[in-house]
Amino acid sequence: MRERSRLGMGGFAHVAIDGPAGSGKTTVAHALARDLGILYLDTGAMYRAVALATLHAGIDPRDGAAVAALARAEPVRAEPDRDAERGFRVFVGAHEFGQELYANDVSRVVSTVAAHAELRAILVQRQRAIAAERAVIMAGRDIGTVVLPDAPTKIFLTASVAERVERRRAELEARGTIVDRAALHAEIVERDALDTTRATAPLVAAADAVEIDSTGLSIDEVVARIAALVRA
Ligand code: DC
Repeated sequence: MRERSRLGMGGFAHVAIDGPAGSGKTTVAHALARDLGILYLDTGAMYRAVALATLHAGIDPRDGAAVAALARAEPVRAEPDRDAERGFRVFVGAHEFGQELYANDVSRVVSTVAAHAELRAILVQRQRAIAAERAVIMAGRDIGTVVLPDAPTKIFLTASVAERVERRRAELEARGTIVDRAALHAEIVERDALDTTRATAPLVAAADAVEIDSTGLSIDEVVARIAALVRA
């Protein structure tokens, strides 16, 4: 196996955290960033921002050329920001998006939008530009494999489907949305299928990633394990 440097792109000690929907990676990554005092970006929010802009523009999310053209015309900008509620901010053009990125309408189309190679090339370039300037914990599906293949720490976070459904249900209910467990289960299984079987940058653990199954673990336990790996 190739010997990996202790430092990644731009000489920074990046942390790549990948995993399926509901694996807890965004919660863990944000908490880890606070713990380690470094910046954080959830790249899923960038795909969600394009998905939302696609819905607003009335573009068919299956039309890859139109989706990519929209992302070029209305650039998606992401900024790690310690003071922001989520730890980062996302803009499309001049407009900042927040909670609406996590609405059901967006969740339903985002995997279709994220499957387009042309769009992925645009967003991966932006993500690398962010990582070239600072140490960052980046969460997503292809961070360890495509965006930051030289990241010194790579984590692939998983959890059972049942646990992921339960976490998502609790998260939605905390926001006042009552959801049907069976529908949520079907949605998560479908998103897993789309994310793992797409032709470009499918969800897969990097060969040199450390796999952590978070089923039955608390956020603090997962954060402590990753922090120990980063400090090691
Ligand atoms: O993590 P999330 O559920 O917010 O991600 C939304 C979608 O974006 C999901 O279908 C996978 C996709 N995604 C991706 O393809 N690559 C990334 N680096 C991050 C997210």
